[in-house]
Amino acid sequence: MEENNKKILLSGVKPTGRPHIGNYFGAMKQFVDLQDDYQALVFIADLHSLTTTRDAKQLKQDTLDLVIDYLAIGLDPEKVIFYKQSEVLEHANLAWIFNCLTTMPYLARAHAYKDAEAKNKEVNVGLFDYPILMAADILLYDADVVPVGADQKQHVEIARDTAEKFNFNYGETFKLPEPLIMEGVKTIVGLDGQKMSKSYGNTIPLFADETELKRLIMTIKTDSKGVEEQKNPEECNVFALHKLFTPTEQLAEIKKRYVEGGIGYKESKDILFESMNNYLKPLREKREEIAKDPARVIEILKKGAVLARARAQAKMADVNAKVGIDL
Ligand code: ADP
Ligand code: TRP
Repeated sequence: MEENNKKILLSGVKPTGRPHIGNYFGAMKQFVDLQDDYQALVFIADLHSLTTTRDAKQLKQDTLDLVIDYLAIGLDPEKVIFYKQSEVLEHANLAWIFNCLTTMPYLARAHAYKDAEAKNKEVNVGLFDYPILMAADILLYDADVVPVGADQKQHVEIARDTAEKFNFNYGETFKLPEPLIMEGVKTIVGLDGQKMSKSYGNTIPLFADETELKRLIMTIKTDSKGVEEQKNPEECNVFALHKLFTPTEQLAEIKKRYVEGGIGYKESKDILFESMNNYLKPLREKREEIAKDPARVIEILKKGAVLARARAQAKMADVNAKVGIDL
C-alpha cells in the first residue's frame, strides 16, 4: 500500500442516506478514478454528521450503507485507506489544538455558519467549529490535494490558513493542501430538469432496483411534442441522461432521430431504461453481495483505521512536542 512517490489525496464523506446518480458522477466516482494515481485516504465523516444528526440508529445504518456503497462502486480498500473518522481520535485531538489558535471572528466569516445564521437556525458549537475539524482531518495526514465540490472550497482555504497560523507560531509543521476542483464534472439534472438533489426530491438513486428505476424514468419531465415532431436533444431531460448512460453509437442514432423527428419520449425513455439498467445492474449486484457480510465491511474499516492511526499518531507526536504537551 505504501508508495512514497505518490501524492496524498484525502477526502471525507458524510453519511446522508441513499446516494443518487448526481452524487455518483459528481463526486463518488472520482475517488475510484483517482485511487491509482494517489495515495488516497477516504473516511466517513461521522463526527461532522453529529453537528446535524440526533438519531444514533440512523447514523449507524447510514454509515454502514455508505461504506457498502463505496465498496460497490469499486473503491479498493487495498489501495485506499478507508476508515471512519471517529475511530481515529487524533482528528478531534488536533481540532482542539487548532481551536486554541483560531479566532471566533475568523470562523464567523465561514459560509456555512453565515447561511445558518441568516436562516435563524440554532447553531451548535460543533457547526460553528465544523471547518476546524475539517482542517484537522486534512492537515493530520499532510494531504496534498483535497477533491471537493465548489461548495467546499472555502473549507480547504480555512485548512490552509490554519496550517499557516500553526506554522507561524510553532515552526514549519503542516503542508498547505490544494483543493482539487473537479473540472469537467457537470451538474447532473434531475427528473424535473433542475439540478438533481435530495433537497428537490428529483433524484434517481444509484442503487434503485429495476422497478423503481423504470418508474422514475417514466416520470422525467418533457414537453408535449409528438413522435414525428423535431426535437432539440439539448433541451431534453431524457437526452441529458442518455449522454451519461447510452453507448456512443446508439447515442448518435437517438440524437439524429430527435433532430429529424421520429422518436417519441416514451421510446426514448424505454431505451434510457435499458442503458441505465445495463450500467447500474453490476453495481447493484455487487452492492447486494457486499451487504450480505456486514462483519467484513466493519473489518475493512478497522483495518483502514489502523493504517490511518499510525500516520495520525506520528504527526501528533510532532504537534504535541511543538505546542509543549508532550512531557
Ligand atoms: P444533495 O444535493 O443531493 O444533498 P450533496 O450536497 O450531499 O447532494 O452532494 C454530495 C456530493 O455530490 C457533492 O460533492 C456534490 O457536489 C455532488 N453532487 C450532488 N448533486 C449533484 C449533481 N446533481 N450533479 C453533480 N454533482 C452532484
Ligand atoms: N465537509 C465535507 C462535506 O460536507 C465532508 C468532509 C469532512 C471533508 N472532512 C473533510 C471533505 C475533509 C474533504 C476533506 O462534504
